[in-house]
Amino acid sequence: MSLDFKPGEFSDFFRDETFRGDFTYRNSPHLIRRFPFPFDRDDYMYAVNMEPHVPGRKGTAFEHILDVDEHYVAEMIDRAQVLAEDPLRCQSLPHMTLAGWDVLEFIMETKARDYPHWFTLERDGHRWRWINRPLGIDHSFTFLDESTLPYGPFEYITRQTQGDWTLQDERDGTLWMDAGIATSQADWSVDFDVGMNFHEWHAPVPIAHDLGVFDRALKFLLKLQHGAPVRRFNWTMTVNPLLDTAPETYPRWGPMRTTLTPENMGELMHLRVELQSLYRLPRSNAIAFDIRCYLARFDELVTVPKWARRLHRVVRDIHPDLAAYKGFLRNRDMMTEWLSRHDDGAPTSPGWWPED
Ligand code: HEM
Repeated sequence: MSLDFKPGEFSDFFRDETFRGDFTYRNSPHLIRRFPFPFDRDDYMYAVNMEPHVPGRKGTAFEHILDVDEHYVAEMIDRAQVLAEDPLRCQSLPHMTLAGWDVLEFIMETKARDYPHWFTLERDGHRWRWINRPLGIDHSFTFLDESTLPYGPFEYITRQTQGDWTLQDERDGTLWMDAGIATSQADWSVDFDVGMNFHEWHAPVPIAHDLGVFDRALKFLLKLQHGAPVRRFNWTMTVNPLLDTAPETYPRWGPMRTTLTPENMGELMHLRVELQSLYRLPRSNAIAFDIRCYLARFDELVTVPKWARRLHRVVRDIHPDLAAYKGFLRNRDMMTEWLSRHDDGAPTSPGWWPED
C-alpha cells in the first residue's frame, strides 16, 4: 500500500495552485469573506484567548470542527513535497503511537461525518476502510496495527489533513511535545522542539511570559476534557503565500522580506492566521494541537472595509517586540502607510465578522 495521491475528482472545487515558485495561491471571492480574521478589536496584545471549539456559523471557517476548503488538495501536495525533502518535519516518539491512533480515529470520524461526499469510513471491528475521494485514496487496514499502513498512524492521517499537528504527552504537571508534523509553520521547528515541555518550547515568545499568559494557559489545558475541545487564534505576516516558513528553510524565504515595496505590498504581503484547536484524546490521554494556517494577501483583506480599518490600526499600534518576533518590524512603517490608505477613520464594530 502507498500513499500516492490520485487527485482529479472534484477539481472544480479544489484549486490547482502553488505555495512556492510561481505562487499561484489565491482565495476565491467567497473565501475571502469566510477568512478567519483574528482581530475582534482595533488593538492586539497576547492573552489566553481560548473558547470552546464548537461548530459555528454556516458558511464560515468555523462551520465544522475540521475545516476542509478549496486549498485542501494543493496543501497536501505541498506537504508531501516538504516531507520528501526533509522527513524530520514529522516525528513521533515511540510512546506516542497510541495517541497517533487516537488522532487518526478522530480525524477520520469527523471528516466522514461532516463531509460524507468526500470522505467515508467503514468499520467492521478493527477492520477499517478509509476512502478519501479528493486525494484518490481507498485503503483497508487494521486499527491499532501499524504494519497495515504505509506510515505510522499519525503521519498517515496528517499527510491527508490541513494544518500542522503536535501531540502532547501529559506528565510531571506539564505537557511535552512528543510528536509533531509541521510543513506550514510560522518559523518554528518540530525537530528542535520535540521532547520539550510547554514552557520550554514557548521560551522565544516575548512579553507573554511576564504577563503570566503561559502559566494560565497551561493550567487551563491540563484540565481539558475529552469531548470538549477549545480553540484560539494566532497570527503573523508572511511575504508571498508561503506555507512552509520553517527555520530549516529560512535562507530560501527569509530574504523575500526585503523584496517588499509600496507598489507590490497588496499582492505580496499576507496575513497568516492560525486557527488553533486542542483536543484531549480518549485512549492515550494526550492532547492534540491542530495549527491550521490560512493566508490572505492585503489586497484581498482590504475588500472588507471593517477589516481594512482594523488591520491598519493593529499594525500601526502593535508593540515593537511583537512586530520583531513576528518578523515584520523592518517593513512595519511601509505596511502602516499602505494600510492607512484603506482606513477612513470610521469606528469599527466589536467582533471579527466582516459585516456585524
Ligand atoms: C499544546 C499546545 C501548544 C503548542 C504545541 C504550542 C506551540 C507553540 C510554538 C511551537 C510556538 C512558537 C515558539 C517559537 O517561537 O519557537 C508558539 C507560540 C505561541 N504560543 Fe503556543 N502552543 C500551544 C498552546 C498555546 C496556548 C494554549 C497559548 C495561549 C496563550 C499559546 C500562546 C502562544 C503565543 C502567544 C505564541 C507567540 C505567537 C506569535 O506571536 O506568533 N500557545 N506556540
